[in-house]
Amino acid sequence: MRIVMIGSGYVGLVSGACLADFGHEVICVDKSTEKVEALERGEVPIFEPGLEAIIAHNRASGRLSFSLDLAGPVANADVVFIAVGTPSRRGDGHADLTYVYAAAREIAAAVTGFTVVVTKSTVPVGTGDEIERIFREEFPEKDIAVVSNPEFLREGAAITDFKRPDRIVIGTSEERATELMREVYRPLYLNEAPLYFCERRTSELIKYAANAFLAMKITFINEIADLCEHIGADVQKVAKGIGMDKRIGDKFLHAGPGYGGSCFPKDTLALVKTAQDYGSPMRLIETTVAINDTRKRAMGRKVIAACDGTVRGKKIAVLGLTFKPNTDDMRDAPAITIVQALLDGGADVHVFDPEGMEAAKAVLGPVTYGKNPYEIAIDAEAIVVVTEWDEFRALDFRRLKQEMKAPVIVDLRNIYKPEEMEKYGFSHVPIGKRKVKA
Ligand SMILES: NC(=O)c1ccc[n+]([C@@H]2O[C@H](COP(=O)([O-])OP(=O)(O)OC[C@H]3O[C@@H](n4cnc5c(N)ncnc54)[C@H](O)[C@@H]3O)[C@@H](O)[C@H]2O)c1
Repeated sequence: MRIVMIGSGYVGLVSGACLADFGHEVICVDKSTEKVEALERGEVPIFEPGLEAIIAHNRASGRLSFSLDLAGPVANADVVFIAVGTPSRRGDGHADLTYVYAAAREIAAAVTGFTVVVTKSTVPVGTGDEIERIFREEFPEKDIAVVSNPEFLREGAAITDFKRPDRIVIGTSEERATELMREVYRPLYLNEAPLYFCERRTSELIKYAANAFLAMKITFINEIADLCEHIGADVQKVAKGIGMDKRIGDKFLHAGPGYGGSCFPKDTLALVKTAQDYGSPMRLIETTVAINDTRKRAMGRKVIAACDGTVRGKKIAVLGLTFKPNTDDMRDAPAITIVQALLDGGADVHVFDPEGMEAAKAVLGPVTYGKNPYEIAIDAEAIVVVTEWDEFRALDFRRLKQEMKAPVIVDLRNIYKPEEMEKYGFSHVPIGKRKVKA
């Protein structure tokens, strides 16, 4: 099959590379010259484990290529995926669909024979209808079917998620489109990944409902964590205890500094806005959004409290900046708010992240970027773990204690055991469990 992917960001690039790996002929289009030129030089503009090898392999076999031009590739395509960004619209929090509609118009102008246009971008319910209306009114002579196929991959595990998904949701009622979509995902179907067909509007809502549910689950355990701190219980044990119940499940029950990233914050907000527009407000999600927003700043206050109530003039070492490990994505990362709270409190903030420092430079205030955890710990009065990268799990605590001015660890991901911290002589401030005082 000839597939074109419009937008070669986290989703477009991973999806395009994996579809090429299934044996399809894929062209990934992007309007960023810098991105396409880098890809053509063999450089991968994002950090995603395993992606570089898949891209290299499929480029070498001739199945995967990149293009700044949209019209040429689209004219020969069977299926065109739209994987452009749908950020929060400035001012009102609705999903900004400017890029989606612009791409749709460009695609329609270029298609020749029957073509399936698939929205892989996360788009509010009714977007497929609107794209179809644009096609019908502005390009009445074109034969195009509009399908919704939301993407559920997680950054950091994107290749596995794309190749071994829990399900593939496809929203269409058109026979011809159904057949082509079956063909696109046939290699996965053979792998027994369920293809779940439904109406287009239902498919669009499934994506938002899934993300909102997961965001709510994280927020729930975060509130339980706060209660644990007041009543002397252990949130990790509570999470394990409830997670063993199959109706609840043990995933997404890790208490932390609040969810962030390129999806949950904007998608929960967009769902809230859609629901309000339809006169059917989703109060659970409205509250989830509000709790999560205030939580990040509260984490800054938690650090200040751990430093005897003030960080003014104190050096604070922040470990981990990206919204989760194994990505370089800084979009809506909790670190942004936490670092800002520390800067506002007068701290001298030093930071280290294995992959996210370039992206962080565009969004963080005046901080110092270090080369490794030990360098930023020198003379620090607290270490704050914001992202649970594996390499932070087994630090040399004896060395850290010698280097630091005050042995304080604020562990916002609960990656260290209080008993061990006690042994090494650290004050340890975790989330939702017993603190250790040095
Ligand atoms: N990042 C994730 O983990 C994830 C997971 C599931 C779904 N999604 C959704 O997928 C969509 C894309 O997300 P992303 O993180 O890949 O975004 P991204 O910002 O990394 O990539 C989007 C790309 O689209 C390009 N683009 C925009 N308009 C274009 C046009 N007209 N022609 C060609 N290229 C164009 C941009 O230059 C950019 O490179 C969003 O709707 C997002 O919500 C993201």
